[in-house]
Amino acid sequence: MTVKIDSYRFKKRRTFAIISHPDAGKTTLTENFLLNGKIIRVPGTIKSRGSGKYAKSDWMKIEKKRGISITTSIIQIEYGKYLINLLDTPGHKDFSEDTYRVLTAVDFCVIVIDASKGIEEQTRKLIRISRMRSIPILIFINKLDRNSRNPIELLDQLEFELKVKCTPIVWPIGCGTSFKGIYHIYTDTVFFCLNKNFLSMYGLDCHSLKMKNINSSVLLNNILGLDIVRELREDLELINSVYVCFNVSLFLKSDLVPVYFGSALKNFGIDFLLKGILNWAPSPTCKKSNIRYVHSNEKNFSGFIFKIQANMDLKHRDRIAFLRIVSGQYKKNMKLYHVRIKKYILISDVFSFIAGDRFILDEAYPGDIIGFHSHKNIKIGDTFTEGEVLKFYDNISNFSPELFRRISLKNSLHKKKLLKGLLQLSEEGTIQVFKLLENNDFILGAIGKLQFDIVVERLRVEYNICVIIYSVQIFLVRWISSKSLEKLSCFKAENKFYLALDICDRLVYLASSKINLKLVQSRYPDIIFSDICDISY
Ligand code: G4P
Repeated sequence: MTVKIDSYRFKKRRTFAIISHPDAGKTTLTENFLLNGKIIRVPGTIKSRGSGKYAKSDWMKIEKKRGISITTSIIQIEYGKYLINLLDTPGHKDFSEDTYRVLTAVDFCVIVIDASKGIEEQTRKLIRISRMRSIPILIFINKLDRNSRNPIELLDQLEFELKVKCTPIVWPIGCGTSFKGIYHIYTDTVFFCLNKNFLSMYGLDCHSLKMKNINSSVLLNNILGLDIVRELREDLELINSVYVCFNVSLFLKSDLVPVYFGSALKNFGIDFLLKGILNWAPSPTCKKSNIRYVHSNEKNFSGFIFKIQANMDLKHRDRIAFLRIVSGQYKKNMKLYHVRIKKYILISDVFSFIAGDRFILDEAYPGDIIGFHSHKNIKIGDTFTEGEVLKFYDNISNFSPELFRRISLKNSLHKKKLLKGLLQLSEEGTIQVFKLLENNDFILGAIGKLQFDIVVERLRVEYNICVIIYSVQIFLVRWISSKSLEKLSCFKAENKFYLALDICDRLVYLASSKINLKLVQSRYPDIIFSDICDISY
């Protein structure tokens, strides 16, 4: 019989990320979670609202200069018997690749949508990744206190983009200046977002009313207004006939998405989302490895690295590896088996970070994220165990970058240093690097322009080399494979000017345009052009 750890330790943990298009209200929502709960650890950055300033842990000059938050932070909040591990993701779209990786370390995610805008570009991509990983999703439609799009229209768009059924848990009553509150579909209760004095004029001393207990519909009509009540009743009829009832097992299978409405700024409607997270969302369960499913309640420790962050503390110039615990328990001074390099490593100190200050943790459990000093031999995607040889192989993926630059040295004698620097930066996931087959030149691939600035700055500060980056006529990359070796070598011979190797020496095709890609794809039907690639060092 396998020995198990006390399931209480992790069953009450909820590990998730909040993702959104910039400005949809992710930070405001996160802050409300912090306000409502007992904060245990707040590593990384939370910007201080209103001031435009950021917390102490904004670690790079670039962050400070541009007033943006690059790092992903991990926040631990206690809610009664529950413990939330909230992975906040960089707000800036240029660092969305970091968000992709964070999604590999969470058990579910909350997507925040601006009610006046619906699904925006950045959210669309993140939804695609969440769907690929089949993680349960909860949606929070925010900014109801502003003029919003029709909620039915928003749900239609969500179902179209998510390609999965959505079901509202609460329903908005009005929006913008006529936003009156929300109706909870499952408790048949109206929650008013209205001034206390206004409600007391109608003899109401609380902010909620059971619909069925409202003996006089005049009361409701007076408070909400006739039109709004009529609209609400019509909407509710439609909801009953169109949307399926919420079902936890469908939600856990990622086949049903609960939708909440509210206003993060007014701290309204967030408690229902929180209840959904605590009552329905999954605790750490099991993760697929290359040989078996690893269950959270197994006694032996296992986990994987999903993020490496350099320079969290400029004084120490260190690299911190972030590990998601899959099973077992971390105990101080533990020796962990580094599966890829086949060696035991003493992990004496693991940290949590509160706004730049470090705190040593003595123990951690499945679902927790721990940070420790990463020597050169730790890479994103690495698995650590207590000796078992396994790899959480399908966890981390590379996606095609969207912007490309050629990089060259001001002093060509620094080639070795450049190679070392680029290798390290790409292993950290700061940038993707491709080496052209034709002349061994390096091409950098990124999601946002700022990533290039970070690379130039870090090469200068950490490796003491000056580089120049140039625009280049590359539109996207595709990872190349084929069942036929013969067809593959023929393809290589005929397209060598457009081919490169990524950091793991996998072949990629650098397409100059969408049309160019379509043309080669039609010319070489036996070649597989993939826009996503698992990291497998
Ligand atoms: P993000 O992390 O997703 O990028 O968004 P963030 O929370 O920073 O919110 C972006 C802007 O939207 C902020 O205004 C914030 O106050 C506002 N906001 C967030 N939630 C709501 C809401 O429910 N209703 C309304 N009306 N506004 C909301 P800002 O002026 O850009 O920043 P600040 O000066 O308020 O800090």
